[in-house]
Amino acid sequence: MNHPLEQLRDDALREIEAASDEQALEATRIKYLGKSGSISAWGEQMKTLGKEERPVVGRLLNETRNAVTVAIEKRAEILRSQKESVALAGIDISLPGVTVPSAYSGYCSIALTGYSGYLPLERGSRHPLTQMLQRSIQIFHRMGFSLADGPDIEDEWHCFDALNTPADHPARNEQDTFYLPDGRLLRTHTSTVQIRTMESAPPPIRVIAPGAAYRRDEIDATHSAQFHQIEGLYVDENVSVADLKGALEFFLRELFGSETEIQFRPHYFPFTEPSLEVYVRSKALKGGERWIELAGCGMVHPAVFEAVNTARGDKAYDPEKWSGYAFGLGMDRLAMILFDIPDIRLFAQNDLRFLKQFA
Ligand code: PHE
Repeated sequence: MNHPLEQLRDDALREIEAASDEQALEATRIKYLGKSGSISAWGEQMKTLGKEERPVVGRLLNETRNAVTVAIEKRAEILRSQKESVALAGIDISLPGVTVPSAYSGYCSIALTGYSGYLPLERGSRHPLTQMLQRSIQIFHRMGFSLADGPDIEDEWHCFDALNTPADHPARNEQDTFYLPDGRLLRTHTSTVQIRTMESAPPPIRVIAPGAAYRRDEIDATHSAQFHQIEGLYVDENVSVADLKGALEFFLRELFGSETEIQFRPHYFPFTEPSLEVYVRSKALKGGERWIELAGCGMVHPAVFEAVNTARGDKAYDPEKWSGYAFGLGMDRLAMILFDIPDIRLFAQNDLRFLKQFA
C-alpha cells in the first residue's frame, strides 16, 4: 500500500507537469513547499510520530521534498525557454542588418535591437592570419594531427634547456630575447609546446601547436618582434626523415598548389638531428619564382627525449624505442605568400583598408 506521502508526491509531480505558465508553477510550489504547504505540514507532523516510524517517514519526507523541488526547477527551465522561443518567433537573428550610409563619417554597427528602421550594420571578416591558420589546421587535421597549446610567457626550461639549447646559445642572449624581471621570458619559438605535450602524455604523439613567438628582431618588412608559428610534433615507432618530408610536402602543396616546388636544405638546430630548412618556390604564386624559406625542421634529438624523461620521472620517451620529427612553420610568411602581402607590419596595424581586402 502507498504511504500518503507517496500519494502526495505523485499528485505534486502531476500538477507541476501540468503547470502551463510561471504563475501556475509558483502556485503549485506554494501549495506543496510553502510555509503552510502540505509537504511542510508533514514536517510538523513528524513530531507526533513514534520512535520506530519517525526515521522511515523522515526519509520518505526528504525524498518527496527533493523530488518535488527538482521537478519544479526543471519545469521552470522548460517554461523559461518556451517563453524565449515565443518572443523570438519570426525574428531571424542570423539575418544581416541593412547597410546604409549613416549621418556620421563612417558606418556604425548595432546589434539586434527592437529598432524597426534601418540598422546601419557592417559585416566583419576574419583576419588574414586567422584565415591562414584555419586553412592550415584543416589540412593537418586530415593528416591526423590534433591541436596542442602552451603559454606565451615561458620558463627557460621549456624554451631552451629541455630543447638541448645550452646557456651560451645566442638565442638566450638578452639582446635576442624578451626577459621578465622574474627570469621568465616571452617564448622565442613554439617548440616549447613540444616539451609541454610530451611532459603531459606518453607517445605516440601527433600534434600541431599554432601560436605567437617573440624576438628582439630589427623590425622591417619581413621581421617583427611578434610573429606566428605552427609547431608540429610526431613521435612514434620508426618515424623517419621520409615521413617528415612527406608530411611537409603534402601540407605545402595542399596550401599553395600541386605545382609547388619544395627544397630541404641542411641546417642546424640544437633540438633536432639531422636538421633541415624548408624552402618553397611556385610559379603559381606572385613573387614565387624565387626560393622562400618557410620552416625549420628535423628529427627530434635524443637529448630532448631524455630531458622529457627527466621531467616526467619515467622512461616513457625511450630514444631507443621512439623516434619523431618536429617542424616550425612561419605562419606570417605562409600568409604573406598565399595572399601576396608585401609587408609583415600590415598584419598588426589594424588598417581597415588592408583588412577589407580579405573579407
Ligand atoms: N623552433 C625553430 C625556430 O623557431 C624551428 C624548428 C621547430 C626547428 C622544430 C626544428 C624543429 O627557428
